[in-house]
Amino acid sequence: MSFFKLTIRDVPLDHQTVLVRVDYNVPLMPDGSIGDDFRIRSSLPTLKYLLDRGCKLVLISHLGRPEGKDMKLSLEPVAQRLAHLLKHDVRFVNDTIGDRVYQAVKRAPGSSITMLENLRFYAEEEADDQEFAKKIAKASGARYFVQDGFGVVHRAHASTHAITFFIPSVAGLLLEREYSTITGAMESPKRPMVAIIGGAKVSDKIPIIERFVDKADKIVIGGAIANTFLAYKGVNVGVSGIETDQFKVIDKIYAAARQKKGGDLDDFIVLPIDLTVAKQVSPDDKRKVVGLDAVQANDLALDIGDQTIDKMVAELKSAGTVIWNGTLGWAEIPAFAHGSARLALALATQPGTMSIIGGGDTADFVLKWDKNDGKSFSHISTGGGAGLELMAGDKLPGVECLLDAKPQIEYTNSKHK
Ligand code: 3PG
Repeated sequence: MSFFKLTIRDVPLDHQTVLVRVDYNVPLMPDGSIGDDFRIRSSLPTLKYLLDRGCKLVLISHLGRPEGKDMKLSLEPVAQRLAHLLKHDVRFVNDTIGDRVYQAVKRAPGSSITMLENLRFYAEEEADDQEFAKKIAKASGARYFVQDGFGVVHRAHASTHAITFFIPSVAGLLLEREYSTITGAMESPKRPMVAIIGGAKVSDKIPIIERFVDKADKIVIGGAIANTFLAYKGVNVGVSGIETDQFKVIDKIYAAARQKKGGDLDDFIVLPIDLTVAKQVSPDDKRKVVGLDAVQANDLALDIGDQTIDKMVAELKSAGTVIWNGTLGWAEIPAFAHGSARLALALATQPGTMSIIGGGDTADFVLKWDKNDGKSFSHISTGGGAGLELMAGDKLPGVECLLDAKPQIEYTNSKHK
């Protein structure tokens, strides 16, 4: 499926100044160091492509959700990590607009990178302020704007939306790959397509579950959200947090599923058949698996159980496509990471299955688990919210505003019809 927007491959940008929006909103450790640089590594192909063509790059990103200027969220350490990963000098300017930026970019040679300070130090960024976007465009002196921050294209902000009013705007290679892979899998998957949905909150996942009812051949539900589904079905899940306010929506999900599949839905919306429980969330806890009828009033369900894991792995054996979003238990603690780890293992050892992994926590888990740097899977997405919205079938404002690719015209020769 070809991408519907122009990309950096389609425009004559050799030796031009190019403003690149990346999503370097990386997790930070309590000491301020970078917890995971997957998003930075994922941007390298676009940066290398542009550097190889002699472009002068000006990088912009946000980091965290600062209120005003908060130096704990400066992008300077990110610029250093990028320089290290790219083995290329990165000049950092501690502002985003104005003369200091303009002069720094003017002085920079071809094939250079100048990185600007956190966009969100200005409230105008999230307000999608056109004057602010115009100032960024002016200070950068850029001939093209490249959107490569897939993780942030669900936001209509100055650097993802308003900026495109002022500079011809195209997609980078990461954005193109993410968008095409995810929409390709949603629209024309190799079947059967199995969706595995986990994570903490049902309310976050409702739109994709609704879409998967339509698109998937099977939906497997684990993680904390499974507790709400089990409680909806009348299972006692002890003191596990459940979202009773979502029962009405779950009703609708089952109604839509019944319309598609008819009668018994347990084989279509697959829920845990046993659970791993503990009295509290503690790293020292032992793994205790119980049947659904043996959950105690003071138990917390923290992972799927062993029979569920076997069942789920068996479901995956024949899958052509697996889309996984949300860990299946409290995966930061090894005793409660079995479900997620066994799923990762099943996918990593099934190279014939297209495996797409989305959602910040799931990507983090899989990247830590995989000794092969994530290459054991077909695609690990850098997007959290953006991936969810794309899977749910929503339009992404930061993509819609890029220049359209020319429509593919199919020529038919009447003689050969
Ligand atoms: C993300 O991490 O999901 C993106 O960088 C967007 O960040 P935000 O949710 O703070 O807008």
